Parts: sequence; structure tokens; C-alpha cells
Amino acid sequence: MAQLETYITEHEQRFLEDLKGWLRIPSISTLPEHAADIRRAAEYAVNQLKHIGFEGVEVIQTAGHPLVYGEWLKAAGKPTLLIYGHYDVQPVDPLDLWESPPFEPTIRGDNLYCRGACDDKGQTMLVIKALESLMAVNGKLPVNVKVLIEGEEEAGGESIEHYVKTYPERLTCDATFICDTGMPSKEIPALISGLRGITYTEVEVRGAKQDLHSGSYGGVAPNPLHALALIIVGLKDAEGHIHIPGLYDKIRKPTAEELQFWHEDPLHIGELLLEEMGVSQLTGESEYPPLERMWARPTLEVHGIAGGFTGEGAKTVIPAVAKAKISLRLPPDVKSSEAFTLFERRVKELAPAGVEVIVRNIHGGEGVLVSPDSPAMRAASAALKETFGKEPVFIREGGSIPIAALFYEVLKVPVVLMGFGLPDDNLHSPNEKYSLSQFYKGIRTVASFLQKLG
Ligand code: BES
Ligand code: MN
Ligand code: MN
Repeated sequence: MAQLETYITEHEQRFLEDLKGWLRIPSISTLPEHAADIRRAAEYAVNQLKHIGFEGVEVIQTAGHPLVYGEWLKAAGKPTLLIYGHYDVQPVDPLDLWESPPFEPTIRGDNLYCRGACDDKGQTMLVIKALESLMAVNGKLPVNVKVLIEGEEEAGGESIEHYVKTYPERLTCDATFICDTGMPSKEIPALISGLRGITYTEVEVRGAKQDLHSGSYGGVAPNPLHALALIIVGLKDAEGHIHIPGLYDKIRKPTAEELQFWHEDPLHIGELLLEEMGVSQLTGESEYPPLERMWARPTLEVHGIAGGFTGEGAKTVIPAVAKAKISLRLPPDVKSSEAFTLFERRVKELAPAGVEVIVRNIHGGEGVLVSPDSPAMRAASAALKETFGKEPVFIREGGSIPIAALFYEVLKVPVVLMGFGLPDDNLHSPNEKYSLSQFYKGIRTVASFLQKLG
């Protein structure tokens, strides 16, 4: 134990340098021009795993971005843990809001700023460094470990889904561990009990065969942008109610314990939201408490609208096309593909006369609920208590990690969702950061988790 602590302390600086090197690679999975960066980021992970003594380390080619795999399976008689992380990151726009360049890791105070600093290179690297520390000090690991790192989580994760379904026997294990979530504050460690699923869509509205003079044709021509606005307004009202028949039918009833937690909010998570977001009021279904709205209710969000004229000055035109990116977050049990069917039907129903509407299913993933009663969860809980000095809280998260439900469905083993992100880490936003103290505590926690599991 003392030796492990010494090793981690002595190598903290290099651990950070190894993370910075990875962060400098702009591995944006949703933009085709970054395909080469994606490959470099995968290679970087391969080198890390080889360096710490993992075996069978390889880049696994897929129809999309490559997976990285490595294993260490010499702990005879001990359980096998499958560890997941992702090396791809989100795009960085709007660029001018970054205080330091998005792919130049920069330290300010206790924070390391960079795209991917938290989501998910920082969190994946801390797991690798926990493995390194255990291997270096003991010459072995307390459990068997398989590591699978994907490169298109932020793009829907189709390739890993295909891989897991095709080769489940390669991934057999006793539990899976996903380090891609956060905790309510530096003082409150957490294990995640549930995630929402997602259906991500694109709605395209087409009118005339080309843009039209709005004076000559205004009054008789269909306007796709206006039609799109009507569709959007019809999908969700000002009170946050979604008007998609059938969407609310299959929501699993929360336990009395969860309901009480959401209503009482003993950790005061809801109170910090206004400041976190920089807004004066919360929106949404006021008959549900904010925690339930974020963690367990379906929601619908418009991510972007394109069409028509948006340049300087004026141009009197009726656009021929308009598009919107719209997603639904779904509580467990509301299946992503079923939600898409309901969504598509409703969008077509809302479309005014004279326009053609195309609804595309860009990607989807299922939500999940996990039980605290497994040896792996108990080990994780004890490890968090050790490093943070407090029992972890068991709370849901509103974001989606589709692989969690898939692991559960295909491998049929408990999923541990333990991460060290903080609410102000600016995931997917300008100035994404990771707390250095969380990074180092994360290394210690994961090392301890593996020891307790062994
Ligand atoms: N790490 C996040 C999920 C997350 C977000 C966990 C916030 C904890 C707090 C993950 O990388 C992510 O962003 N997932 C996408 C999934 C989608 C692209 C399929 C999401 O939630 O939008
Ligand atoms: Mn992530
Ligand atoms: Mn993400």
C-alpha cells in the first residue's frame, strides 16, 4: 500500500505529461477531416498499454474508427474486469470562446484545460495510470483486466456495438467498469445508478425547387424554415411537455427512495444549477423536481437549425431547404428505435401543407439502471470511501453512454459507472477542463478498486 502511494506520488508529473501528449491530438470523431488524428490517438493508447506491460495490445479496425484493446490475464482464480474508455472528443466550436487553444493543454489553478481533458481522455488515462502503478509496484495486477477503448463514442458508437455483439466471447468478464461520468462536487464521490438513452435525429424540410424572391412569391410559396419552426413548437411546448403520443407510456416507475431524493435534493445539486449554467431560471416540467427532469424524464432538445440567409445585411429570399438537429433523451425502458418511430410519425403530422419532410435517425443508444448490490460495486464504493473520506452517493446522470446498456445486455454482468468529472468541467463546451486533484485521486481510487475487487 505504502509503496503504491509512493509510486503514484513520484510519478504524478509524468502521468500528467502522458495525458497532455494524448490531449494534443485533435481526435474529433464526428469530423471526417480528423480521421488521421483519430488513428494517432488510437496508436497513442496502444503505446501506453504496451508500456505498462499489457499483452495482446492491438488496434482493432472497424467500419468506423478503430478500437484499442489490451489485456492482462494472469491473475489465476481472480475475477476479470472489462474496462472501457473513449479516446475521441467533441468538436471545439465556437473557437473564440476558448481562453487557451482547445488542443493545447493548459494549466490554470487546479485545472487542466483542453478538449478531452475530462471527456474522456483524462478519465481513461487515470485508469491506465492506476494499472501502471499496480503493475510497477507489484509486478502484477490483483484481478484480470481487459481494456477496450473506443474512438467514436461521441459519434454514436456503432462500431463498438457491432464488435461487442459479434465477439462477446472475447469480452467475457465478471464485471465492466466505465470511467466516463462525474460526481456532484469534489467532496461528494458518486457511483452512477442510471443513465438516459438517446435518439439523435435530423429533420430536413424541403419547399420550392430553389430559393425564391420573397416579394414575388411571398403569400403562395411554402417556407421550409417557418414549417420547421411550426414542427419544433409542436414537438415541445413552453412548459416542457413533449407532444409525441406514446413517448411517456413506458417510463419505469422510480423507487420511493429515488423519488424522495429527487424531491428533497439533500446534496443541493439543484440549487447550484442556475450558477453553473449562468441563467436566471430553470425551465421544463415544473411538476417534476429538477433532478428528476435531468435524470429520469424524457427531454427533447434542438441542437441547431440551418437554412436560408444568415449573412451580414439583408437578402429577401424564401429558402428552399431548412434542417434541424433534434435529439430525445430517454429514461431506461423507452427504447431508442421505438422513440424514433414515434418522433418521425409526429414530425410528419406536424408538417404544414406544401413542404416535404425527411426525418433521419442519426444515432441512438439505450439508457440503463444499475444495482448497487454486486461485488464490483461494493469494491468501488469502498475505494471511493477510502480516497475521498466519505461514502459515495448513488445517483443517476442525465447523459448517455450507450455502451453501458449494451455491455449489460450482451455480457450480462454488473456495470460500474465511476468517474471523477465535476459539474463545471464544461463537457462538450468551450474551456473543457479536468481538475488535477480529481485526476490524481482518480488514479488512487481506481488502483484501490482493483485491489479490493481482487
Ligand atoms: N461522458 C459523456 C456522458 C456523460 C455526460 C456522463 C455528462 C456524465 C456527465 C459521453 O461522452 C457523452 O457525451 N455521451 C453522449 C452520447 C451520444 C453522443 C451517443 C451524450 O450524452 O450526448
Ligand atoms: Mn464521455
Ligand atoms: Mn461526451
